[in-house]
Amino acid sequence: MKRNESTFVDRIATIVRGMDVLEIGCGDGTRFARAARVSNSWTGIDVDTTAVRQANEANRLPNAKFLEASAANLAWPDSSFDVVVFTLSLHHMDFAVMPRAIDEAARVVRSSGSVMFLEPLPVGTFYDAEMRFGCCDGDERRELAYAFYIMLSAERLIETEEFIAQVLYEYDSFDDFKQHVPTMAESNQRLEQYLSQREFKLDEDWRLNVFHVVD
Ligand SMILES: C[S@@+](CC[C@H](N)C(=O)[O-])C[C@H]1O[C@@H](n2cnc3c(N)ncnc32)[C@H](O)[C@@H]1O
Repeated sequence: MKRNESTFVDRIATIVRGMDVLEIGCGDGTRFARAARVSNSWTGIDVDTTAVRQANEANRLPNAKFLEASAANLAWPDSSFDVVVFTLSLHHMDFAVMPRAIDEAARVVRSSGSVMFLEPLPVGTFYDAEMRFGCCDGDERRELAYAFYIMLSAERLIETEEFIAQVLYEYDSFDDFKQHVPTMAESNQRLEQYLSQREFKLDEDWRLNVFHVVD
């Protein structure tokens, strides 16, 4: 599998250069390693024990660490970081947790800093495959819409930038797709046809929203 998400990794790396960063929902910690490398310090948190263990095993950066923790209750004092970045994670939180996670992010970020949200948009053939065949996370339109509403209506956040671009995924075969994307066995035949018609190349739009924090 090849994935081209470099537009977003580059944009995030530019913003976090030399900064103390908290990544919310870091997963296995690999996707933004290039951005972590140019930060001053990078702390990733996730509620998934296995993912955090993998992140620490894969980590080769002296300035990065990964911890098991929830965005709903951050252990750090006020003004601990320059940047808090939610990496494809806000829409994965319970609806009651989303506003709390944003309040916590605004609390731990310094007044000159920023809070940013990377989220997928329900646009593109990857998303279409999720919707049609229930693979990966399935239909997340409700969660995505709510996450977007919650970030835009957060009282302490003032938006400074919105950046939308396409990301590309290229798989070697259906087996390669299944190795990287959870699928439902009963839709396999139709899904394989859908993928082969597109030469196993899929796309999806992502959106990065950047905010300043006000008191
Ligand atoms: C789609 S994954 C993204 C993982 C990683 N950022 C990446 O881009 O590959 C969403 C992650 O958000 C995490 N997550 C969900 N709720 C969370 C919470 N309350 N606090 C921290 N992480 C959370 C999940 O465990 C999951 O690893």
